[in-house]
Amino acid sequence: MLYDLSGRLQTNDYADLTATRSLVNDLENDFAIAQKAGCIVCVLSQHANDEETAIFPNAAKAGNGLIATLIEEHHDPARREASIAHSAHDLLAIGNAEGRAEAGIRLNQSANELFAAYMAHMNREETDLVPWMMKHFSDAQMVAMRGAIMGRTPPDRMFAILGWMLPSLNVRELSGLIREVRPTMPPQAFKAITDLCEARVDPARWDMVKQIIGI
Ligand SMILES: [Fe+2]
Repeated sequence: MLYDLSGRLQTNDYADLTATRSLVNDLENDFAIAQKAGCIVCVLSQHANDEETAIFPNAAKAGNGLIATLIEEHHDPARREASIAHSAHDLLAIGNAEGRAEAGIRLNQSANELFAAYMAHMNREETDLVPWMMKHFSDAQMVAMRGAIMGRTPPDRMFAILGWMLPSLNVRELSGLIREVRPTMPPQAFKAITDLCEARVDPARWDMVKQIIGI
């Protein structure tokens, strides 16, 4: 999702006001299933909120020393996101193509700084926090934490997130996930997931997954 938005910010012609308005709209808008890019800013805020509510308190209680730093890292993107959204709006109000092109370069640079910091943060959670959690928590405890996050995520938001997540999984991960969720869902909900895969996952990869799981 971040790579995709980063690519769009880099290749957008900011002199073209219609294309730029559409990009800014995708950058900012709230979750809606119909929207291709959805709300990047909301996802990043949601990430912080979910972790700080459902995961970090448990990890801190169990003695993890990284939590204060990870929370501090969550605050920095929020400040940058507000500034990027503000700059994107200001860019739309610039009356000449040359001025918009210059502002577009600065917008792209600010977004790249945010994405780089954010990727480093998420990578650190994966490399430092997750292995620690696997040692200190049982599967049941981690399933409960995941359940707490999923339980309060509205279905349309969940589908918007899945719309980014499913195309990002490799064949092994995606077939494992589909196989795992199939017995836990009513047929209609399962069909909604496979329809989403049909629409969003690379067709060759989805064909391989279908063969593996036999659907
Ligand atoms: Fe985080």
